[in-house]
Amino acid sequence: MGKYVIAGNWKMNKTPAEAVELIEAIKPLVKDATCDVVVGVPFVDLPAALEAVKGSKIGVAAQNCHWEKSGAYTGEISAEMLKAMEVGYVILGHSERRTYFGDTDVTVQKRMRAALDAGLTVILCVGEYLEQREQGITGEIVAMQTKVALGGVSEEELARVIIAYEPVWAIGTGRTATAEQANEVCAQIRDVIAGLYNAEAAKAVTIQYGGSMNAANAAELLAQSDVDGGLIGGASLKPADFATIVAAAK
Ligand code: PGA
Repeated sequence: MGKYVIAGNWKMNKTPAEAVELIEAIKPLVKDATCDVVVGVPFVDLPAALEAVKGSKIGVAAQNCHWEKSGAYTGEISAEMLKAMEVGYVILGHSERRTYFGDTDVTVQKRMRAALDAGLTVILCVGEYLEQREQGITGEIVAMQTKVALGGVSEEELARVIIAYEPVWAIGTGRTATAEQANEVCAQIRDVIAGLYNAEAAKAVTIQYGGSMNAANAAELLAQSDVDGGLIGGASLKPADFATIVAAAK
C-alpha cells in the first residue's frame, strides 16, 4: 500500500452494469496515477467491479461489513465473504452508517476486528457534527472515534488501516472544510496515532480528508502536510473529476 490513497465512495449509486461503465471510463484516466486508487461500490456491484478493474491498479472496496463470520444476521455481509471474493478494502464507520443505521464507536471497533482478521484493508471514517465543531470539541470527538475503533489493533495491523477525516457538515453539502481546518484535524489524528503507537507509525499512517472534495479544491487540500489522500463521494461518480483529484494526489 502506498502512502497516498484516493478512494471513491459511491454510496447507494450504480447498478452492476453502470458500475462497469463507470470503471471503464475511470480506468484510462487514472492509468498513470502515482497514488493508490480505490472505488467503494455497493455490495451487489462487487463481482462486476472486481472483474472490471482487472488489468488496472484500481482497488475495490465494500462500504461496510458485519463483525460475525456467519450466522443469523438477515441482510448482513461478513468480512469473510468479502475476503472470499478477493475484495481488498472495506469502508467502516462512515457517518451515514453512524447517523442512519445505528453504527457506534463500539460496533465500528467490532467490524474493524473482523475486517482485519479477514485480511482486508480498512478505510475508517471519523468526523464531527457541526454542533460539535461549534462547541470546540472536534479534537476530542475524532480522538475518541479513532481510539475506540483502533482498540486491540496491533501496530502491524495498523499498516492496513487508512483513516478518513470526514467532517459530517462537509459531506454531500458542497461545504468543504478549509485546507487549514482539514490539515489541523488530520494532524490531531496523527498525534492520536503517535500516542497509541509511536511516532513512526503516526508518520506512516495514511490520513485522508473527505467531505465535498472535488476537482476544483482537491489540489489545495491534498497539498497540506497531514492530508494523505481523499475519500470522495459525489465527485467520484464523475470520471473526469475523479481523475483530476487522483492526479492532484502526488
Ligand atoms: P462527498 O462525500 O464527497 O459527496 O461530500 C464524501 C463521503 O461521504 O465519503
